[in-house]
Amino acid sequence: MRIVVSVPGAFRIEPWVDAVKGALPEAEVSAWDKAPANWADYAIVWAPEGALFEDQRALKAVFNLGAGVDALLALAALPPGLPVVRLGDAGMSVQMAEYVCQAVIRFARGLGEYEREMKAGIWSAKRAPARSDFPVGVMGLGAIGARVARALAAFDYPVLGWSRSPKTVAGVASYCGPAGLDAFLRASRILVCALPLTPDTRGILCRATLEKLRPEGYLINVGRGAHLIEDDLLELLDEGVIKGATLDVFTEEPLRGDHPFLRQPSITLTPHISAVTNRHLSVEQIAQKIKRFEAGAAIDGVVERTRGY
Ligand code: GLV
Repeated sequence: MRIVVSVPGAFRIEPWVDAVKGALPEAEVSAWDKAPANWADYAIVWAPEGALFEDQRALKAVFNLGAGVDALLALAALPPGLPVVRLGDAGMSVQMAEYVCQAVIRFARGLGEYEREMKAGIWSAKRAPARSDFPVGVMGLGAIGARVARALAAFDYPVLGWSRSPKTVAGVASYCGPAGLDAFLRASRILVCALPLTPDTRGILCRATLEKLRPEGYLINVGRGAHLIEDDLLELLDEGVIKGATLDVFTEEPLRGDHPFLRQPSITLTPHISAVTNRHLSVEQIAQKIKRFEAGAAIDGVVERTRGY
């Protein structure tokens, strides 16, 4: 069995190739740019160049080193019938839960304000806010969103969930589909986006959506930058309709040095790190899936191309 590996230039490829060799000792493994044409049976990739699929035409499946397959599916060279497999939970949902909980807690407890006041020499302890004033709506109840929702519920925040198809998560009031969106938004004050990016969800975080949140709403985006209409958020912050935002993902990454988000004090920014792919866990998961695939067994995470995730 032959496997090519491709990760963006900013990452070193050798540790990934070595990890795949370690997990599948029987396989021949090569960095994609060092492999002969039409050589590989499988590709393990993160944000690959379309040329990979023009060069490797004998692939039986491609495994994505991340949960979101939007960048992969956007490649015109990706053969229509090639199975695309996304990463299941490989240590990512616990990181997402941790990240979202800290952002929610920061808003609900007013920690940013306390930090600013203390630095200005102001000692002003306020009454503890009621959790019932901070219902959190989680968009997307896949492996990641469900873990986020359960973690928030464990801190006794009222938690609502919205997904494309009906989902049940203990302790979470669930809404689904376009018909359920309005009621979900109107009942939420802090909105968390953990959706996959698809034609249906692109731009879903827009004025019409954010305006429906309860007064003094907040946004936390850990999905994809293209879920958000960035200018709408800036306007809503200026108007005071939205009180704060925590953003980990952006339309253009890295964020430009002159991006208006950098000058907006109510936005907290991080560089797409809310859940970082763990090399060992992700390669181990993919190796198990390749073995099952070779044996003709069913595997989780095969992307439905028409659905987009
Ligand atoms: C990261 O953004 C991922 O999709 O796993």
